[in-house]
Amino acid sequence: MKIFKEIALLRTFLGEIRSAGNTVGLVPTMGALHRGHMALIQASKKANSITVATIYVNPTQFNNASDLDKYPRTLDSDLAMLDKHNCDVVFCPTNAEMYEKESIVRFDFHPLDNVMEGKFRPGHFSGVALVVSKLFNIVEPDIAYFGQKDWQQMAVIMRLVDELKFNLIISSVPIVREPDGLAMSSRNRRLTPELRTQAVCIYQALNLAKRDLEKGMSLEAVKKSVKETVERQPDMKLEYFELADRLNLTSVNTVKNGSQAIMCIAAFAGEVRLIDNMFLD
Ligand code: PAJ
Repeated sequence: MKIFKEIALLRTFLGEIRSAGNTVGLVPTMGALHRGHMALIQASKKANSITVATIYVNPTQFNNASDLDKYPRTLDSDLAMLDKHNCDVVFCPTNAEMYEKESIVRFDFHPLDNVMEGKFRPGHFSGVALVVSKLFNIVEPDIAYFGQKDWQQMAVIMRLVDELKFNLIISSVPIVREPDGLAMSSRNRRLTPELRTQAVCIYQALNLAKRDLEKGMSLEAVKKSVKETVERQPDMKLEYFELADRLNLTSVNTVKNGSQAIMCIAAFAGEVRLIDNMFLD
């Protein structure tokens, strides 16, 4: 496995790879890797000659300084895990390499970024789009892989690729969960054993809401029951639960047969903010 910290060296290496007729898959991450990330690596390895993973905790997508500070950084074990999964190349740049100048470029994805995550994390998707655009231009992948765990992020990135005509395909990978249903997340490492046990209520609330919505229960009643299910746990607090159209993320009130709806949820387990989502059939 080759490890690069500098853009110029990575570009030269990938240029040679591509001119020999190889395809390149890109898996952008912020590290603290787990089985969810490895599902993206595996999908990329299946479809491309070379897989490039990136590990970079991108400061411009954090609207909260303490969240950025506390984001887990586990580079040595991340590299070992990537090596074990036969990842070919890892790019782990410094802040100076990625943001040589203080960035003045901003993205506005209204109406995709003023709901749910965007509403509670102002500027978040602008920062994501900025770093992902840089990574697309540095790596020039044939296919880039993103997880459905961050559904809104995927919707924003698909729009970015479509509008800016990035010459690549976005491939989406289903959510990988712990055996009890909690969606795998780098932030789960910050949970105490007590909070970890409580956090499964997020998945339970989604399952209950799915059952109730499909039975025809009103959205208002479902929202109330989601809040109760989450907040029955002493250290859990619901931030939002939304029922939305999968593609344009606008709120919907009811589920019709064949609808393309998704339920999205964010909740705090103590100080740790967790998100999850689930499709409705
Ligand atoms: P990060 O949270 O490290 O996630 C990297 C990728 O792994 C994302 O596409 C995310 O959706 C996917 N992922 C995380 N947990 C997953 C799970 N349980 N199942 C399936 N996929 C999962 O998302 C980011 O980093 C950043 O915003 C980034 C795109 C790298 C830009 O900085």
